[in-house]
Amino acid sequence: MQKLAIQGGFPLHGEVRISGAKNAALPIMCASLLSAETLQLSNVPDLHDVVTMRKLLQQMGVRAEVQGEHLALDGGQIDKLEAPYDMVKTMRASVLVLGPLVARFGEARVSLPGGCAIGSRPVDLHIKGLQAMGAQISIEHGYIHAQVPAQGGVKKLKGARIFFDIVSVTGTENLMMAATLAEGVTVLENAAREPEVVDLAMCLIEMGANISGAGSDTITIVGVDKLHGAEHRIMPDRIESGTFLVAAAATGGSITLRDTRADILDTVLEKLTEAGATIRVEADTIHLEMHARPKSVNLRTAPYPAFPTDMQAQFMALNTIATESAMMVQTIFENRFMHVQELRRLGAQIEVEGNTAMVRGVPQLEGAAVMATDLRASACLVIAGLVAQGETIIDRIYHLDRGYAHIEAKLTQLGANIRRLK
Ligand code: UD1
Repeated sequence: MQKLAIQGGFPLHGEVRISGAKNAALPIMCASLLSAETLQLSNVPDLHDVVTMRKLLQQMGVRAEVQGEHLALDGGQIDKLEAPYDMVKTMRASVLVLGPLVARFGEARVSLPGGCAIGSRPVDLHIKGLQAMGAQISIEHGYIHAQVPAQGGVKKLKGARIFFDIVSVTGTENLMMAATLAEGVTVLENAAREPEVVDLAMCLIEMGANISGAGSDTITIVGVDKLHGAEHRIMPDRIESGTFLVAAAATGGSITLRDTRADILDTVLEKLTEAGATIRVEADTIHLEMHARPKSVNLRTAPYPAFPTDMQAQFMALNTIATESAMMVQTIFENRFMHVQELRRLGAQIEVEGNTAMVRGVPQLEGAAVMATDLRASACLVIAGLVAQGETIIDRIYHLDRGYAHIEAKLTQLGANIRRLK
């Protein structure tokens, strides 16, 4: 199993390019299932999850051509309406094929995702939404089997008013995709407002869908007969952006992010400013400088536009070496403090009670062997390793490769002492 070895104590300096967003690329790739024409995507990040999604789509008959960060997906010859367990278990976002398949072909078999390190993560809202649109759904042998009864020889979903009792990002995306080809109007209420939902909506609109309200909590979709090919550039990754900014702040560095977007990072930039960083934004660049030990920052995760759950672990690394104590409340997933035990191995002082962590800043962390448990926990341990005195070895870094493109190369370019042990 691959590991990362980090010699801590080097402030990050310099410029780094931000890749396309994982959480936008994955649903947008699934949109290719909605059309028989080619979807041309650019700024597609080079990540394991993107490769897994491409393989899954290829298994279904989508033809894929990759050229660097360009990806062409042709859904003209889909012959297998199934997402098998061995793929869904490695990547939960695979469930995003369900809505498009049912909408275009009237049928799909998608493995139920199993357990997950950060929480139970059910998909009941995806299922209920499709049922409201007329799909008959049964769970058989661990698979979600969805079928739309034929009427007059056609199997078409019907528009519906769907209320989400919990805000769900992929739930909103799945049902928004399904509704594009349904008969009539679908209204998604209490929909997720995440920028990645908006990026998907923009791509679907470029493909001929009729969608309004994406980015607000009510999205209206008027079904159309078919979607066509389109070209779309994937938005920048706000979590990768935030991760590099926190790493620079924690190490007392000075960095510039290129090809990013500050307008979707408001709460993260605010918290970094509160921690003592100086931030300057110009067009698609963000510059951060930090000259002192960070100040502790309290935070509470919640759906966008509030503080993102995917940035909680990285800010915990920052708080471990901050000047006071911070209270961090996690409201979205029930088990998202897996990194706490590992941070303690580096000398961090953290108490957890339920969904709240109290982090008392210490002047210095010390390098040690630690283990990554999930994607953002891995990013937290990398940041902690960058600030710790001596060597930190992070095991199970395959989690990191799922969501961060070329992370060691990017960090090395910024002056970090980091290498992969194979
Ligand atoms: C997405 C992101 C993930 C991020 C999360 C929250 C992608 C590919 N992943 O995950 O990085 O951490 O949003 O911002 O975009 N829930 C239900 N029933 C459902 C669906 C969700 O109860 O059918 C619950 C979940 O257990 C969780 C909450 O809703 O407590 C929010 O989850 P959701 O927004 O669906 O997360 P994902 O879309 O899986």
